[in-house]
Amino acid sequence: MVKARIAVLAGDGIGAEVTAEAVRVLDAVAKRGGHAFEFVDALIGGAAIDATGEALPAATLTLCRGADAILLGAVGGPAWSGPAVRVRPEQGLLDLRKALGLFANLRPVAPLPAVLHASPLKPEVIDGVDILVVRELTGGIYFGAKQRTATEAVDECRYSVAEIERVVRLAATLARSRRRKLTSVDKANVLETSRLWRAVVERIMPAEFADVACEHMLVDAAAMHLLRRPRDFDVLVTENMFGDILTDEASMLAGSMGLLPSASIGASGRGGLFEPIHGSAPDIAGRGIANPYAAILSGAMLLRHALGLAEEAAAVEAAVAQAVEGGALPADLAPAGRDGISTRAAGDAVLAALARA
Ligand code: IPM
Ligand code: MN
Repeated sequence: MVKARIAVLAGDGIGAEVTAEAVRVLDAVAKRGGHAFEFVDALIGGAAIDATGEALPAATLTLCRGADAILLGAVGGPAWSGPAVRVRPEQGLLDLRKALGLFANLRPVAPLPAVLHASPLKPEVIDGVDILVVRELTGGIYFGAKQRTATEAVDECRYSVAEIERVVRLAATLARSRRRKLTSVDKANVLETSRLWRAVVERIMPAEFADVACEHMLVDAAAMHLLRRPRDFDVLVTENMFGDILTDEASMLAGSMGLLPSASIGASGRGGLFEPIHGSAPDIAGRGIANPYAAILSGAMLLRHALGLAEEAAAVEAAVAQAVEGGALPADLAPAGRDGISTRAAGDAVLAALARA
């Protein structure tokens, strides 16, 4: 029996709709397994700015520090962007990642056979793709000093050896439980931070992970090879902004942003922040039509990484696959000419598959 306090930060846009389905699924998992999950809601992002003036209120951070895991929806939206805005919703998420030391963001990409049609890429290119992107999450240009004058702006990009070592070690360790191949992505032909990144990888891999094949790839080439021969990638490790960009691209291998979950973890190996890679989708927010599968799959990652419930996690992943195979397709996955099902109906389909298991 596992007892867990889970902070639920729905955030903005479709965040509330998709996290509601993830919570329903986690609740069902708890009931079936005799676990006791307590869900505690808190504010982040634009919703928090409206209520408190801050994107990450102190009360939210305190709750998250004390929680066994955090489930997050999405942050951001047109109401809190533009030149006049003082605090941005996104800063709340960045501050939370930093404050909790969540330096590694795991983003698995594996297309479900039933929705190969949803991808703009040819089925024969994406069939069998199984990639784990490990994105550095608390360093680089996201967190460097920013400056702005009337005529100029600066974003500093900085990485330390220690920051690179810990994320590369984690990625290489994860590669050991997979196909033992690591692709380190950088821009070492131009950027000094990338040259340091590559030097660290070249030192660590032969010395500590001789059993893991290692290659280096420039980020522009990686963007191309992800579409040309995605099956060749196993674990891809890269710095913060490259990882952000490449995973939006990689979501098209799976057919939709609505299918990709993520886990942000730190040194302790416990706890962590679990969130879909998609954004707040203001254009469809509040209509009950968003795809909740990425949020539900983030819940599965939460079960596995934060709570040590690997079997339950696999059961949720299998239930999502079954729901999709059974034709429970929200609009982003539905074939042209067919209406998508509602967010709630997709959650129901997962719950029904779980109940059958
Ligand atoms: C993501 C998002 C965030 C990021 C934004 C909302 C700050 O795009 O999690 O990929 O860039 O890290
Ligand atoms: Mn992103």
